[in-house]
Amino acid sequence: MSELITVERADGAAWVTLNRADARNALSRAVNLELTALARELGDDAAVRAVVLTGAGDQAFCAGADLKERKGVPAAQARPYIDAISGAIDAWARLPKPTIAAMNGAAYGGGLELALACDFRVCVTGAEMGLTEVRLGIMPGAGGTQRLPRLIGVAAAKELILLGRRVDAARALAIGLVHAVVPAGGLRAAVDGMLAELAACAPKSVAMAKAAIDRGIDVGIDEGLRIERQCYDVTLFSEDRDEGLRAFAEKRPPRFTGR
Ligand code: COA
Repeated sequence: MSELITVERADGAAWVTLNRADARNALSRAVNLELTALARELGDDAAVRAVVLTGAGDQAFCAGADLKERKGVPAAQARPYIDAISGAIDAWARLPKPTIAAMNGAAYGGGLELALACDFRVCVTGAEMGLTEVRLGIMPGAGGTQRLPRLIGVAAAKELILLGRRVDAARALAIGLVHAVVPAGGLRAAVDGMLAELAACAPKSVAMAKAAIDRGIDVGIDEGLRIERQCYDVTLFSEDRDEGLRAFAEKRPPRFTGR
């Protein structure tokens, strides 16, 4: 990866940092293309069990699409830029292992859409967030109108999207937009705590449960239950299932290998 994004690997987790603090970690086309490649690479890397996404600095997690870059692009030529951001966010949503957005500051537009594509969102007390695109003459175009209502319900999503409202961390927590709010200095420890919880779970079980939820959310219950069974069967024939049962019988913590 380039200096636009840094990756740090520790104890089975990859910490990915958007590294443009001066531009509030805005998503330029180059960043988006790297984010897409990185999501695929980390998804394929068996040594990585969980992925954390955060931003450099203490002002912003991500200020969304790079508005300065976009300003120079006529509408007729904007498609590759739009495709790059939605491609990146889709790639993160499809990452077949647990993902955590460690929101070190503001998240607007594509920045919040990126966080919505993660499984968990933990933000600092001062973080504000919103899908403010209608205030810029556009609308959310990288999954926001679809992922936000699925996550927090239609009424709250319409409040944020149609009014372009910015919400603070406390309100974000109240409406279920984030899982936890922590003091700025405690973000790393809070996320490490979640990573430790994830590390105690069988990787294949977590991946299959994530797939069952994500694939099942948009289908009828019968099809959803079929998907769940399909995913369950992957865990049923895994070595970790045998290890889990053995460890329970032997009254010791399981040693999962991901096989
Ligand atoms: N794209 C490109 N550059 C951006 C940016 C974006 N989305 N957001 C901020 N920046 C740049 C600013 O232009 C500024 O650059 P400059 O130093 O060359 O003037 C720099 O980042 C710092 O921004 P500033 O607004 O001074 O920082 P702040 O800490 O006071 O506020 C935000 C941070 C994120 C709250 C604020 O920048 C903001 O509201 N940005 C726009 C967010 C938005 O509406 N995104 C929707 C995209 S669809």
